[in-house]
Amino acid sequence: MIPFLAPFPAARPRRLRAGAALRNLVREHELSVNDLIWPIFVRDGEGIEEPVPSMPGVDRLSVDNVVKAAIEAHALGIPAICLFPYTDPALKTEDCAEAWNPENLCNRAIRAIKAAVPDLAVMTDVALDPYNINGHDGFVIDGEIHNDETVEALVKMTLAQAEAGADIIGPSDMMDGRIGAMRGALESGGYQNVTILSYSAKYASGFYGPFRDAVGASGALKGDKKTYQMDPGNADEALRMIARDLAEGADMVMIKPGMAYLDICHRVKAGFGVPTFAYQVSGEYAMIQAAALNGWIDGEKVMLESLMAFRRAGCDGVLTYFAPQVARILNR
Ligand code: PBG
Repeated sequence: MIPFLAPFPAARPRRLRAGAALRNLVREHELSVNDLIWPIFVRDGEGIEEPVPSMPGVDRLSVDNVVKAAIEAHALGIPAICLFPYTDPALKTEDCAEAWNPENLCNRAIRAIKAAVPDLAVMTDVALDPYNINGHDGFVIDGEIHNDETVEALVKMTLAQAEAGADIIGPSDMMDGRIGAMRGALESGGYQNVTILSYSAKYASGFYGPFRDAVGASGALKGDKKTYQMDPGNADEALRMIARDLAEGADMVMIKPGMAYLDICHRVKAGFGVPTFAYQVSGEYAMIQAAALNGWIDGEKVMLESLMAFRRAGCDGVLTYFAPQVARILNR
């Protein structure tokens, strides 16, 4: 499409900006509560709301409080929440067996949420890092991340989450072949309607720092994740990863982080036309909150503007820690 503009003064683009009514009328993109997925950190215990210092405004919640948050999310019209467990360090092992324990924290939380608010979609995280003694998303054998053994474990993890009642499985591990393996296991396990939102284009990013604090993986992580997460210098590779995951049976795809990768969001939506999501990750959230708390930016404005950017880039929705705050504003 070639944008058309008559020569001045026939065209005065400011005419359409002169008042709120006309601005509202011609706005191309909208942000709605339907576009939000709220990531929540779960921890053991009862009655706990434990602040995450590097993510002001975000807490680790015990299961009872996660259920309260889920009820709140549903009341606000947020369609989905996503669970990330803060695992007791004593349960972290080299074989990561806690990851597919049907009674692990995450699976208990899924059951409790689905019992209280069945209509709220629950998304999970599939990766070994919360359970791995060395903080990696895959098994580490002789200093290397082993792909195929990891995929087998991720399949077990997926089935345990589906059994607990998860609606959306979110593989964030970046192993090769995991989507096909997970899809096959869900099909033959009787979970045909469980969806996969693949973290297809996930970059090895500095923006995950606060998240690793939140799930207690920062101290544990040995080395970096560059042998499985993508190089920030690559764009075409992201399209190949999206194409591959769709071919293997992903229902929806994700680009992560968000704000620094809006070009990828745009190319993915334009090129594939599939349900496309971005993850506004912990570091993006922390930067906005830190500047807002210092009085350097208007936090509410920047929050809304940052989320609108994802809609403009073509995303159908965003995983954002701002979800409840935004929903309250949008519902006003
Ligand atoms: C790990 C995982 C990470 C995030 C989601 N799942 C961190 C990582 O890859 O190290 C990051 C989310 C965020 O920063 O908000 N499987």
